[in-house]
Amino acid sequence: MQNNLESRQFRLIRRPNGLPAQDDFELTTETLDAPGDGEVAVAVEYISLDPAMRGWMAEGKSYIEPVGIGDVMRAFAAGTVVASRHPDFAEGDRVTGLMGAQTHAVMPGTQVNKVDASQLDLPTYIGALGMPGMTAWFGILEVGELAEGDRVLVSAASGAVGALVGQIAKKKGATVVGIAGGAEKCAYLTDELGFDGAIDYKSEDVDRAIATHFPDGLDIFFDNVGGQILNAALANLRVGARVVICGAISQYNKTNGVGGAEDAPTNYLSLLVNRAKMEGFIILDYIHRYDEAYPQMAEWIVSGELAHKEDIDEGFDNFVETLRKLYTGENFGKLVLKV
Ligand SMILES: NC(=O)c1ccc[n+]([C@@H]2O[C@H](COP(=O)([O-])OP(=O)(O)OC[C@H]3O[C@@H](n4cnc5c(N)ncnc54)[C@H](OP(=O)(O)O)[C@@H]3O)[C@@H](O)[C@H]2O)c1
Repeated sequence: MQNNLESRQFRLIRRPNGLPAQDDFELTTETLDAPGDGEVAVAVEYISLDPAMRGWMAEGKSYIEPVGIGDVMRAFAAGTVVASRHPDFAEGDRVTGLMGAQTHAVMPGTQVNKVDASQLDLPTYIGALGMPGMTAWFGILEVGELAEGDRVLVSAASGAVGALVGQIAKKKGATVVGIAGGAEKCAYLTDELGFDGAIDYKSEDVDRAIATHFPDGLDIFFDNVGGQILNAALANLRVGARVVICGAISQYNKTNGVGGAEDAPTNYLSLLVNRAKMEGFIILDYIHRYDEAYPQMAEWIVSGELAHKEDIDEGFDNFVETLRKLYTGENFGKLVLKV
């Protein structure tokens, strides 16, 4: 490999208070060691921005260790192998992995996946065919126990996970309504993704709108947003409903705690009345089962049966600015930064 491979890196230097800020990070340059036995060096081309990053920056008990102060920010990424000391990888291979918010990474070969960039472009491999795609698949089919004819509501429906959840549910014979912010995103759901309806939470009374779309209630609520939207959905369940807690992006930057007074799920007794269940899940628990989802998802994506949209910002230095867009709804589709 080139000697003295320099990596520019966003390091977390302070835990955010509210929305992540530029001053929570430091932009540093490090000279990387050449890959050792079993390792590969990768030039990162795309960095994935995921809502979970906010949780990874926070202190406290979670499903994964927080990013340490001073450490390179954790991030999924895709790039090209520039040097390899692993028998399964050669220079020029395209790979994805948890490579961090940096321009170059040295990774164990066991922690990167080779992808076929002649089939699909790299951002798709960290989006619809990456972690968000797997989340949609296992979330709606396994946790949601989707059945033909189900009436399904999904929040953050125009986003990376939500758009796929709705389309998979449609393919399996469900009636699907999505909740999104603004007329443009709502039109995308019905006109381009084939959803049966859309609710603009910024201009509609969500509780009333759900009841209008589903007068007999919901079988599945796939929630990416939490707070008041979750509470409105709870008020509209049918007997035997499943509420899938995938995320709660409306709560991630709260400084007064999740589910504070105005965001509390006060309608939770609907679970009892309707013999319904509410279940959270973490996609990391399904990694060993990705093979069950991947071939079918790849086929649908390559054939164009599953639509996917990437929102690509450019310029490594814009990492923090780009990340913030997730929490303000400025992204439209899977948010990715081109290095
Ligand atoms: N459980 C897991 O393992 C797992 C894995 C992946 C992702 N997730 C979760 O899935 C959810 C979606 O992730 P994604 O990657 O697909 O992101 P995304 O939907 O592509 O982007 C985030 C979207 O959330 C919406 N949003 C932001 N703040 C909001 C608020 N205060 N109220 C309502 N909507 C808001 C915005 O859309 P609007 O313009 O429509 O508001 C924004 O575009 C997140 O909660 C994430 O944490 C969970």
